[in-house]
Amino acid sequence: MEHIEIMTPSMIEGMRASCELAADCLVHVGQHIRAGMTTEEINTLVHAYTIEHHAIPAPLDYKGFPKSVCTSPNEVVCHGIPGKYVLKNGDIVNVDVTMILPAKNGFFGDTSITFYVGEPSPEAKHVTEVARRSLELGIEQVRHGGRIGDIGAAISEYAHKMGCSVVREYVGHGIGRKFHMPPQVPHFGKRDTGTRLKAGMVFTIEPMINLGHYETELMADKWTVLTRDRSLSAQFEHTILVTRDGCDILTTRKEVVANSEDRDYADVGPRSCPAAYSARHPG
Ligand code: MF3
Ligand code: CO
Ligand code: CO
Repeated sequence: MEHIEIMTPSMIEGMRASCELAADCLVHVGQHIRAGMTTEEINTLVHAYTIEHHAIPAPLDYKGFPKSVCTSPNEVVCHGIPGKYVLKNGDIVNVDVTMILPAKNGFFGDTSITFYVGEPSPEAKHVTEVARRSLELGIEQVRHGGRIGDIGAAISEYAHKMGCSVVREYVGHGIGRKFHMPPQVPHFGKRDTGTRLKAGMVFTIEPMINLGHYETELMADKWTVLTRDRSLSAQFEHTILVTRDGCDILTTRKEVVANSEDRDYADVGPRSCPAAYSARHPG
């Protein structure tokens, strides 16, 4: 079996710093998302934010990826390349930020959100809110002694109940001083199967939820992943530390994310969206 790193307290401090910055960057992006802007402009925002905070954008030059962030609108499942695409009213767009912080020993922090551009269709709302809630339910499963399969089971049971499908070809991953490490974290699966979780493991959960079929198609650019049936797809991602009594979400946002968590129909949960959740449930 592949070795899964158990992080020491000092490694965890490094992870906290890069994850916090990645989370702050998503809050920043939310304040600027609007119809009429290109995905290239999101790249410019994220790149500038990263450099200003003395970090490195992990996607840039990663296996030849040409930009500093992934932007995945509508039927794009993941790994969309920022470019000329102009966001329009009614679009949804996932922005996936990964930061490396050299001053804190070069750990990676990886997190993403799906944003609403203006007013979404009922279908866009549905797939986005199912994805948001499915991440919450996956996180709820994480604890020392639990198993990887518990996470995917919770996510896929909910997504299917809501009439959506779960992408299978792309999964969550261990993360640390490398972008992608063991274990793989599928967003489907069976309870009580798979690797046993231990305090100190760090990995992402990042369910990609489709309105139609789960199958995907890779575009000719070798990066952009589309739904095969061109149905809408949405995704949310956190980087998570397993602890003795549950987990610690390292990419927790301190503020409500504009153009996503601020919508009255946003199905925010206490774990994945604590600031937005407590704003709605005072006391
Ligand atoms: N951030 C993505 C993930 O969650 C990976 C992007 S790889 C890139 O794993 F090269 F496309 F940036
Ligand atoms: Co990831
Ligand atoms: Co990511």
